Amino acid sequence: MPVDLNNAQPLAWDSATLDADTKAMLDNLQPNILRAHVRDHLSVLFVRFNDVAEGRAYLRRLAVTKMKSARKHLQETRDFTARGRRGSPYVGVGISKAGYRDLGHSVEDVRAFGDKAFRDGMKRRTAEVNDPPAEQWEWVYQREIHAVILIGDDDTHTVAALREEIVADLPESARLLGEETGKSMRNPAGDGIEHFGYVDGRSQPLFLKDDVDKEPKEHWDPAFPLANILVQDPFAPNPDRHHGSYLVFRKLEQNVRAFKENEQELADSLGLAGADRDRAGALLVGRFEDGTPLTSKPKEVGGPVSNDFNFDTDDGTKCPFSAHVRKTNPRSFGREVLMARRGQTYGDRDDQPWDDSPPEVRPRGDVGLLFMAFNSSLVDQFEFTQQSWANSPDFQVAGTGHDPVIGQGDRDIKVTHPTAWGKPEMSEPQAQVTQTVTLKGGEYFFAPSLAYLRNL
Ligand code: HEM
Repeated sequence: MPVDLNNAQPLAWDSATLDADTKAMLDNLQPNILRAHVRDHLSVLFVRFNDVAEGRAYLRRLAVTKMKSARKHLQETRDFTARGRRGSPYVGVGISKAGYRDLGHSVEDVRAFGDKAFRDGMKRRTAEVNDPPAEQWEWVYQREIHAVILIGDDDTHTVAALREEIVADLPESARLLGEETGKSMRNPAGDGIEHFGYVDGRSQPLFLKDDVDKEPKEHWDPAFPLANILVQDPFAPNPDRHHGSYLVFRKLEQNVRAFKENEQELADSLGLAGADRDRAGALLVGRFEDGTPLTSKPKEVGGPVSNDFNFDTDDGTKCPFSAHVRKTNPRSFGREVLMARRGQTYGDRDDQPWDDSPPEVRPRGDVGLLFMAFNSSLVDQFEFTQQSWANSPDFQVAGTGHDPVIGQGDRDIKVTHPTAWGKPEMSEPQAQVTQTVTLKGGEYFFAPSLAYLRNL
């Protein structure tokens, strides 16, 4: 029996009644897909192989000696919670369409990947999502990348040492085209934040019973079927048991200074005063900096970051239809679109992202998000979210504007904002905030099953 990816019940991964196929699936699935792996320090390597036999042998060695399974990761997480025992580092691999070709798979074979965006590669999909043309990307991303290797841990030295070993093992014929370094940032409450200063990574589709059980579910059901992120691995020995996931990687630079200026100008134009000025940024993101959802209640202090909300009773007078979290997850529909986000922030800065410093001290570039997400369809999930939702000023309600955080394309229509939370009075139509997130390059990958990698 093939694993039923559409089963609506979250996976009780260590239950005695778990069938053999699902067990085999977990033993052959890479970690960080079903559940985020610790990756406070993250090394991202972009590799090109150039020799079929050597490329295959390299990946096989990597899988056999350095990579653990999803099941091992889940067991380690449980051991850490119960006994504080540290887990092992994460090593993950994604292969691009060009990479599969270079590893000896024919053009016909590669058609087994159902996803058109994956088969095209990101450089040929710029028109589909309004990306800047590839000639404007950073040089490494203009090149033909065959594989991405992700190395993550909470200890920077562990990551550095493992990176050394993995790079040293590259065969003569292969090239390390480039690399990125990611590092978590946290606010004083200990929650992970992105460079604009907002809590990030809170809302995720959850696939495991352990994770679902911990969440309140009055207004939002965080449980999702595996079909949101897993597909059969077409080249694995047994695709009914061996699964993989499409991985989108995008280096998104953030102009923090411009974003903070946008927040201030919006607060001024709406006449927001005192603590209510924080609402300007929340109108853009859909959550306050501390993660409090704008739709559910005015900002409250302390407590865990809520994710148990929806927009059913919000006609846009609390949280605008354009706000980033409302665009990318409208909640009352589109559940099949939601990806598992596994990004990490990059770039160093001297200021504290969460404090009240003026925009002048904020970085204008060289910091941002290494956006990564697992999908079962890049076309229907990542690209659909970016293009049909974030880039469309008319998604849900005509004329409400682009996603202020990630929307790409001309922001040529004017928009209005609620002047007071939950009240019908709207501002005069005004220009949308400027674009402050810029794609520097990226690629689409497939994170294959360990069974595939071990059999190369
Ligand atoms: C630099 C770029 C980005 C920034 C600064 C950013 C920031 C944020 C923040 C602060 C949140 C709220 C935290 C949470 O609910 O987990 C969030 C949520 C989210 N973002 Fe982004 N994001 C970026 C890029 C993207 C991209 C490229 C996509 C997809 C095309 C995306 C999709 C989502 C989704 C699906 C959610 C969860 C919404 C929900 O379930 O409520 N983000 N993002």
